[in-house]
Amino acid sequence: MVKEIKVFPDPVLYEENSNIDRISDAVRQLARDMTDTMYEKGGIGLAAPQVGENCQLVTVDVSGPQRREELLVMVNPEIIETKGDVESEEGCLSLPEFKGTVRRAEEVTVSWRDLEGGIRQMQASGLLACCLQHEIDHLRGVLLVDQVGRLKRNMYEKKMKKLYSSEQ
Ligand code: NI
Repeated sequence: MVKEIKVFPDPVLYEENSNIDRISDAVRQLARDMTDTMYEKGGIGLAAPQVGENCQLVTVDVSGPQRREELLVMVNPEIIETKGDVESEEGCLSLPEFKGTVRRAEEVTVSWRDLEGGIRQMQASGLLACCLQHEIDHLRGVLLVDQVGRLKRNMYEKKMKKLYSSEQ
């Protein structure tokens, strides 16, 4: 089921996201809903707080909504090693009409649990590495717009408030 995307500055994007101790049917359902939502909205990654669920779950597929060939569902993902750094131009489904450039590690090693409870680990580079860092940032309540400097953030916040008030 496709869920509604929570948009900046919705406070749910800044709340604490709890660890998932038990992979219940509800967690599996949430993973399916997040995958549907990510594909439907044209994203390559999504974190649970973006659909209003404050837990440590992300979905990623850098092959994109057209191909849908590289889906990763990560429970409690954690970056355990980083290497190098790159500049990355990114957008975010929770930040309509926003693009920002941030510095990311060039390579990351990530560990997580899969939906069967197995412990997984992978090394990623390029787009996947940036995407994983972006989604894991969401899990600690950090948005792309918080990483581009105060001026740019304030301008975007004003723009969103205007947009929102004109909808009332
Ligand atoms: Ni995002």
